Amino acid sequence: MEIIHVSAECYPVAKAGGLADVVGALPKYQQQLGHIAKVVMPMHRTKFLYNNEWETVHKGNFSMGAMNFDFTIIKEKTNKLGFDLYCVDIYGLLDREKIYSYDDDAERFMAFQLSVTEWLSKWEHRPDVIHVHDHHTALIPFMLQHCYAYKHLSGIRTVLTIHNAQYQGWMSWDKSPYLPAWDTWKWGLLDWDNTINPLACGIKCADKVNTVSPGYMEELMYAANGLESLFNYEKDKCTGILNGIDYAVWDPEWDTYILDNFSLKDVKKGKALNKKKLCDDFGFDIKYPLIIFIGRLVGEKAADLLPEAIQQAFENSESKFNCLILGSGETAVEKALEEMKFRWFGYYHSQIEYNEKLSHQMYAGGDFLLMPSRVEPCGLNQMYAMRYGTVPVVRRTGGLKDTVKDYGEKDGYGICFNNATVEDIVYSIGRAIELFKNAKKLDEVRHTMMGINNSWETSAGKYIDLYNSIYK
Ligand code: GLC
Repeated sequence: MEIIHVSAECYPVAKAGGLADVVGALPKYQQQLGHIAKVVMPMHRTKFLYNNEWETVHKGNFSMGAMNFDFTIIKEKTNKLGFDLYCVDIYGLLDREKIYSYDDDAERFMAFQLSVTEWLSKWEHRPDVIHVHDHHTALIPFMLQHCYAYKHLSGIRTVLTIHNAQYQGWMSWDKSPYLPAWDTWKWGLLDWDNTINPLACGIKCADKVNTVSPGYMEELMYAANGLESLFNYEKDKCTGILNGIDYAVWDPEWDTYILDNFSLKDVKKGKALNKKKLCDDFGFDIKYPLIIFIGRLVGEKAADLLPEAIQQAFENSESKFNCLILGSGETAVEKALEEMKFRWFGYYHSQIEYNEKLSHQMYAGGDFLLMPSRVEPCGLNQMYAMRYGTVPVVRRTGGLKDTVKDYGEKDGYGICFNNATVEDIVYSIGRAIELFKNAKKLDEVRHTMMGINNSWETSAGKYIDLYNSIYK
């Protein structure tokens, strides 16, 4: 089977979040299953672009409303990622450093999708599946079926994976002429609440739709940022497939970012050495439990609750603990977290940045990882933490609910709570401190979770089954 993944991000080329990790790993595992999987993404100006060799494979042009654009498709020459990687360059639109957050993102991603479709329409053969990810690429299924110029591609099977339904790519109807001539009887497919809603359109037009965990798909039926009724209507083609993690990148035995490599056999010693390094770097006392948070500092991740919750835990707890935060996001949250540094010096530190290397060191040296997310479609961090022997402390939601079992239950290994509230977080930090004091139980929990297989092998196969379930 030949599968083309279309995405705004792909690790290690350009990453803003978990979407990149998935698109950087899934195709590799599909290749290993004997399929041909390719990735096409915008040519963001990142280090990866400049440090690798490329060849031009296609040049073309398209119009978007009254504007005409030339585009170029380049291919990475050495199969460095384990699959063919293509990048689309459009002068003035896709030649930027950041992936998102420009005023003209609607134009940028529309142009990206037009280039991909235009390029595919020039191929001499047809791929079997076009697999689009999130709203940035979700108009492609509509374009293949209802834009006259691409009618000959309408037999290709399409799958939309939703990594986050909070963002839908809304754009006003005055942008509709950007699409190449289409069957205007079909305007209802583009529309949701009087705006063009690319995510909603993808859900209506793709042959199959999936989210990145079964638990999140269930939640979308009643909490989907306005799309609940659509998910209910389309539920027969919707499913949840849990993400895996890339064991080639996330393995404490081989990880080159961490100070001391370890495995299940010597986890106690390995974690202690890595923890010592972190404690030395940030001025913590190694004998206290180290609780970490890694992620975007936004409402979805409930990062706004962290300052108050951590503060209360420090004030109320009879036992001491250390806390290390890594991430960036909303200014008010960043500021509140930074301010706490002075009051809790020696126990608390926040590092306001995106730092891949430090994140690996934190998974290796931390004792507990806190994830109080309000919304978590899958969550990869809890799985990285588990592989590195760090106990996840998570809110029961979406993929967190599917991947973490409370240590109070039979064969459990994590700490779970129900609500994204300060009270629940403080209470769970208390439970983490208690678990830390029980060395035997902690050791048992570490062994259980490190023995769990969260690799991509199983999930990659489920995607193949999903493609096969589409008949055209
Ligand atoms: C998004 C979601 C996250 C998920 C990731 C990869 O970033 O917020 O929960 O793990 O996509 O699918």
